[in-house]
Amino acid sequence: MTEFQRRRTELMRRIGANSIVILPTAREFVRNRDVHHPFRPDSDFYYLSGFAEPDAVLVLAPGRQQGEYALFCREKDPQSEQWEGYRAGLEGVVTDYGADEAFSYAEMDVVMPDLLAQREQVFYPLGCDQAFDQRVIRWLSQVRNQARSGIQAPLSIASLDQHLHEMRLYKTALEVGTLRRAAQISAAAHQAVMQTCKPGQYEYQLAATFQYDCQRQGAQALAYPSIVGGGENACVLHYIDNRDRLGDGDLVLIDAGCELDYYAADITRTFPVNGRFTEAQAQLYELVLAAQQAAIAHVKPGHDWNDPHLAATRVLTEGLLRLGILQGDLDTALAEERYKPYYMHRTGHWLGMDVHDVGAYQMDGDWRPLEAGMVLTVEPGLYMPKDDSKVAEKWRGIGIRIEDDVLVGTNGPEVLSQDVPKSICEIEALMAT
Ligand code: GLY
Ligand code: MN
Ligand code: MN
Repeated sequence: MTEFQRRRTELMRRIGANSIVILPTAREFVRNRDVHHPFRPDSDFYYLSGFAEPDAVLVLAPGRQQGEYALFCREKDPQSEQWEGYRAGLEGVVTDYGADEAFSYAEMDVVMPDLLAQREQVFYPLGCDQAFDQRVIRWLSQVRNQARSGIQAPLSIASLDQHLHEMRLYKTALEVGTLRRAAQISAAAHQAVMQTCKPGQYEYQLAATFQYDCQRQGAQALAYPSIVGGGENACVLHYIDNRDRLGDGDLVLIDAGCELDYYAADITRTFPVNGRFTEAQAQLYELVLAAQQAAIAHVKPGHDWNDPHLAATRVLTEGLLRLGILQGDLDTALAEERYKPYYMHRTGHWLGMDVHDVGAYQMDGDWRPLEAGMVLTVEPGLYMPKDDSKVAEKWRGIGIRIEDDVLVGTNGPEVLSQDVPKSICEIEALMAT
């Protein structure tokens, strides 16, 4: 709770007095009649509150006499709790979650206009929830209607992103610990998948093994639907059908990570279904691995966000020229991005509570410098089209991605997901056991 308190204090310092933050948690969504999708709190909301119940809104009002931190939440209700489980209730959010003041979610329309009065700027994530947007606008016009009684209404609604998402980009020691553990759990699950994979199994069986092994180790959920693509399915970047049978002699790509305490892992490995790489598979695999290693070497202070991508595309282009898949000289091929038909995505993204985490990638039009405490993925790949006559037959339909989660350390990269093997001999050795 001290960490959540520290975050709220820091955010209030950044937005300044005379401002107010209104931040609802995620909504519950119906899946089908009487069944909801599993509830997951909004990451920004949880980052500031540590509170995981639905129907909650956080308010930060710097300098407010009755308390700077107000939380709207569900009231205690023995009958609902009998069916759906424990609720902290108004007293609980004060004693257990550090709120200065608690209000019933049902009272929001009555209370909120008073909280907004005399504030100059409202920080609220406009455009995320239309129904809530309408309520905020209604509250603001109610305050404006009191202008003749000398009440000042807020003049602007601003996004919290530049403050809150900047904070979330720099991970604290506690957050790095959770990310490291999420990566370790996921790494062990990837190993379990490699060890049990056999020709004739189905993609969904590998997905099931992965999820089982993560949850067995205490992860509450997957961070995103697992991608398990055998053979040419690996060339579909976000293939989640996971329906096909795995062919002897094919590679399988699995991109999967768990969510632990609302922090994500995002790991990809590509390995041969039968445990042995063919020569063509191995040539492309070594190339992607070399690109990934070159990119990881650039994940350190002193480099900027784009440097790992530049390193990866250089190694990939060199290799594609060497293998005769591309023609021409290196500098021209790079300048013309000739690798793009085979490598069409970027080399990574920020990682944190959200798998594609928040935080700006550029500042004032330049790629932003990497700094200690940032966490990102490094995930180059090659995806050879299955019916492109320009590509020699032996390469067609091969899809490879290798993805690790990397912390920018003070002295260099720390690969949080290093426990899953990725060299050809390590993979073949593990799969032979
Ligand atoms: N799993 C989605 C991604 O790698 O970005
Ligand atoms: Mn991924
Ligand atoms: Mn990723």
